[in-house]
This record gives sequence, C-alpha cells and structure tokens, in this order.
Amino acid sequence: MADIKKKETGQQWFYSDTVKEHFLHPHNMANEDKLIDEMRPNAMGEVGSPACGDVMKMWLHIDDGRIKKCLWRTFGCASAIASTSVLSEMVTEKGGMTLEEAEKIRPKDIIKRLGGLPPLKVHCSVLGDQALRAAIADYKKKAE
Ligand code: FES
Repeated sequence: MADIKKKETGQQWFYSDTVKEHFLHPHNMANEDKLIDEMRPNAMGEVGSPACGDVMKMWLHIDDGRIKKCLWRTFGCASAIASTSVLSEMVTEKGGMTLEEAEKIRPKDIIKRLGGLPPLKVHCSVLGDQALRAAIADYKKKAE
C-alpha cells in the first residue's frame, strides 16, 4: 500500500525537463505592454479556469489566414506558463498555423509536446487552449 501511494505521488508531481525549461524561460509571454502594441494584435481571448480561478489572456496577429504572432499573459501556475509557452510555439512555427489547424489543437497535444504533466495539473493546459479558441472566435466575429 505504502509503495503504491509513493508511486502515485511520484507520478503526480513529475515535471518533464521541457516543462521546467518553458516555465523558467517562457516563450512569447507578454510581460510588457509595448510587446503587445508592437505585434499589432487583431484578436484577443481571455478566459478563467473554473478549476482554480486563474486567468489567461492571449493576443494573436493573424495574417492571410495564418497565426503569425501569439502573445499571452497569465496569473496561472508554472504548468499554465509552460503549457501556453509551447502552445504559442506550436501555433506560430513553420509560418503559422491556419485557424482551422489551430482549432484542432487539444490539451492532450500540448501535454504530449511538454513530455507530460502531472494529472492534477492537466487543467492548467486547458487555460491556454481555451484562450486560443476565444481569440480565434474574436477574430472571426470581427471579420463577419
Ligand atoms: Fe491554476 Fe494551474 S493551478 S492554472
């Protein structure tokens, strides 16, 4: 019993090197307002997590149907920071994803790229994913 508990605890709080790297050196984080001004965002999404009450804001610059730039800011935890950092890379690399491609991303894709997340932290990866969807919806609404 004690072994099982120990094993479960170990699994629950294992952070991959990728999670640690992105938490310590987050990519595309909007830590200064001027970064947001410079990117000329044409879409913005803001969501709160029902699981923990944390908030995520995301700005996109979409050009020719592709996400060229993605900035984000959160009051979320280390897992939310790492998750959204890799998500911002995923949507902007190789010339940027189309909106349709980006809408197909699921939290499990983010977690896979992170090399896993502790089960109790899976909801943190949902925050960036939901903010991305909200920003794409904002862009589509403005384009109507
Ligand atoms: Fe709130 Fe992770 S605990 S985002």
